[in-house]
Amino acid sequence: MGLGQVTAADAGTWKLGDLVVNRLGFGAMRLPQTGRALVPDAVPRDRDQAIAVLRRAVELGVNHIDTAAFYFSPLRSANELINSALAPYPDDLVIVTKVGPGRDPWGEWTNRARPDQLRGQIEENLRQLGRDHLDVVNLRVQAGMTSIAEHVGALAELRRAGLIRHLGVSGVTPQMLAEAQAIAPVVCVQNRYGIGASTPEHEFVEACGRLGVAFVPFFTIAGEGRGAGAIGTENADVLAVARAHGATAAQVRLAWALQRGPHVLVIPGTGDPEHLAGNVAAAALRLTDDQMTRLSSVRSA
Ligand SMILES: NC(=O)c1ccc[n+]([C@@H]2O[C@H](COP(=O)([O-])OP(=O)(O)OC[C@H]3O[C@@H](n4cnc5c(N)ncnc54)[C@H](OP(=O)(O)O)[C@@H]3O)[C@@H](O)[C@H]2O)c1
Repeated sequence: MGLGQVTAADAGTWKLGDLVVNRLGFGAMRLPQTGRALVPDAVPRDRDQAIAVLRRAVELGVNHIDTAAFYFSPLRSANELINSALAPYPDDLVIVTKVGPGRDPWGEWTNRARPDQLRGQIEENLRQLGRDHLDVVNLRVQAGMTSIAEHVGALAELRRAGLIRHLGVSGVTPQMLAEAQAIAPVVCVQNRYGIGASTPEHEFVEACGRLGVAFVPFFTIAGEGRGAGAIGTENADVLAVARAHGATAAQVRLAWALQRGPHVLVIPGTGDPEHLAGNVAAAALRLTDDQMTRLSSVRSA
């Protein structure tokens, strides 16, 4: 691939509101543990390794980090690791967090937050990250929610109070995005997306582009492995394109997502220093039109 010293800046930039980020970012969900995330018996990751990965990510130009207070294992918290590794924070670092879901101290999921409980979740993030405001906060919509108006209204109020700079939404339908936009400016949609997505999912990504809203996919590498991570057999088309570039399947998945539109910002998650370097190097990988078409027609089983 001839990547040399690639940095996240090679993917280009996008503005989340007034905050400029490199389109190749980092997801912190994998840092607190090895193996499956978000389970009570998760195996805590080596602390020094997690800290080193965060610092290396920033050295490699990453300035968009996605996190949540509910990203923790018995002994590690993503927010605490970010604070310990990176504070005092670089001026250009944009930390995006999400609220709505919650986990009790034992790691079990709690009921989703009511609108009046969102402030407490915001404050929990502020305490853990050591900040007095949050750059971007996504409302993470959960199963069973039909209207998000009251939750978005509560976050818009906290934005007016200065606790939040910009709002985003996650796990949403196009209708929910429209509902949120009628209440407050929305800078990003964070949904599951990657090679193998359905036609409506592809169309939603394109619609966000037309609206000028960033689309931030998760499970772009993990795919159907979801919370368990990148498991199972890699798709034959992905492998063929990877071979043609001397790249890895993970790099092809990231490059494909980035080429879906200038508003797509990837946030690959890893606690592995070598995977981090490989993922950032994907910022310079350019797929041909034929390869894009081939990969865009892949459908998950
Ligand atoms: N809004 C939401 O509901 C939501 C849901 C899930 C995730 N997220 C966010 O999105 C981010 C991305 O999602 P994700 O971390 O679950 O999935 P991902 O980035 O698609 O993939 C991560 C998985 O792939 C592995 N991996 C990473 N780089 C690799 C490479 N170069 N080669 C081989 N394997 C590699 C990781 O394991 P290793 O640690 O071994 O590298 C991990 O198992 C998360 O970190 C989180 O910030 C948001």
